[in-house]
Amino acid sequence: MNNTILNIPVLEVKNVSKDFSGFYALENVDLQVFPGEVTAIIGENGAGKSTLMKIVSGVYTQFEGSVLLNGEKVAFKNPKDAAENGVVIIHQELNLIPHLSIAENLFLGQELCNQFGLLDYPKMNKKATELLARLQLDIAPSTPVNQLRVGQQQLVEIARALLLEPKVLIMDEPTSAISDHEVELLFKIISNMKAKGVAIIYISHKIKELFEIADRFTVLRDGKNAGSGMMKGTSRDQLIQMMVGRDLTNSFNKCEAKHGAEVLRVQNLSFQNPEFRKDFLVSDVSFTLHKGEVLGIAGLMGAGRTEVLEAIFGLAPKYVTGKIWIEGKEVQIKSVSDAIAEGIALVPEDRKLQGLILNMDVEKNSTLASLGQVSRFSFISKKKEAELSNKYIKKMNTKVASVKMSVKKLSGGNQQKVVIAKWLATNPKILLLDEPTRGIDVGAKSEIYKLIGELAAQGMGILVVSSELPEILAISDNILVMSESKLTAKLGRGQASEEAIMKAALIEKE
Ligand SMILES: Nc1ncnc2c1ncn2[C@@H]1O[C@H](COP(=O)(O)OP(=O)(O)OP(=O)(O)O)[C@@H](O)[C@H]1O
Ligand SMILES: [Mg+2]
Repeated sequence: MNNTILNIPVLEVKNVSKDFSGFYALENVDLQVFPGEVTAIIGENGAGKSTLMKIVSGVYTQFEGSVLLNGEKVAFKNPKDAAENGVVIIHQELNLIPHLSIAENLFLGQELCNQFGLLDYPKMNKKATELLARLQLDIAPSTPVNQLRVGQQQLVEIARALLLEPKVLIMDEPTSAISDHEVELLFKIISNMKAKGVAIIYISHKIKELFEIADRFTVLRDGKNAGSGMMKGTSRDQLIQMMVGRDLTNSFNKCEAKHGAEVLRVQNLSFQNPEFRKDFLVSDVSFTLHKGEVLGIAGLMGAGRTEVLEAIFGLAPKYVTGKIWIEGKEVQIKSVSDAIAEGIALVPEDRKLQGLILNMDVEKNSTLASLGQVSRFSFISKKKEAELSNKYIKKMNTKVASVKMSVKKLSGGNQQKVVIAKWLATNPKILLLDEPTRGIDVGAKSEIYKLIGELAAQGMGILVVSSELPEILAISDNILVMSESKLTAKLGRGQASEEAIMKAALIEKE
């Protein structure tokens, strides 16, 4: 029988509260989820979305209130128990084992065996290949996961969840690391699952996306219910009002900056693929960045955008060729410390791997990027830096109970705010930002855009990679578009539009 017509929730949360040593992350929260529907959970960074999902999926077993599956109260012992009962979660943070292959990761804890009870590698490889094809991931299942980009790893996580054939699938920010093209693909998969009666819980800060994919929503604010209903008939402004409890005048547009002298020039930059020497991750890229300019780099996942930043930052000198000038002087960047000594800073894409030390407290993390620490000859005061980064943390409305709190305990978006704050505080000449607002809520996003604008106005040259077209259009003075390792367009502010960018991003190699 069709539950949707009868309006019976497959999953229900009643009066749930969760405290972390006295701090209530959730208070008396209710949620209903229906089969064949996508339910969005919306809320600012730190609102309690991930905590609620961890309760529903058996990660947290200690909480007040109840969780009902098909009308019956359940108490999952752990995530495996939840998955066996049809409730599967794809976490906000990636959970793959880096040195294992894609196939091994997919089947970890759910290995397929042959008639002799031995691991059936051919069968697992075949199934893995099928799944990867469904996600249009053109990579051998034997590839170790640590060779994949964050976005590709995200797709592997999704594939892993699909393998479990869930009845309730929870996606905690599945699109924060993938670009528009892959999002489209994911939405097709979600539609297929919906048609089969799967209930999907979808968390995202991209409100436009929610209107495309969600049927229903529940808003959390400071750990409490702040509204729920059908997406149809609800406006963006109404959702934001529920999320933040006030109207938000954001629509940010960078003011036209007066560009100064050239700060960075890159000529014929190439980055050889360390795995397949004949292949290039970046080929023959040339461009100029001026003081006070925000230069955006757009393109699909895997186009080589991140690698351009990595090449400039000295992360893979063995594989990089080409010339780099800083303030008109040709420089040799043979290592990260060379790059830092030249006044370059990089805010990386994956905060977990490269941006933060999770077990260290917020205060220590925020001074970690100290140029003085890495480069022997610079005289930046760490105290001043800490002050600055704390100022930025406040400005972005970062929700931290105390600066002595370990970063691991912050919500995903709040961790990202700490990463950005710490790099902004180093006050570099050239700032490289890779997906800076990944997982950040709407309110804080406009704060970050404002900060980027302010830093540019002070004369910093800023290079930003972003998969969100509205973002890149709003903050950039000029936009470079990449496709398959090459630059395919340079668009000035007047010429740039979502269409123009997509057209250039889809140009294929001859
Ligand atoms: N293990 C923990 N110990 C202490 N506090 C925690 C812990 N886990 C989460 N919190 C706190 O609970 C609150 C809710 O966090 P949660 O991760 O659920 O937020 P979220 O809505 O998912 O935010 P985001 O959009 O940034 O991912 C935050 O204030 C966070 O710091
Ligand atoms: Mg979260």
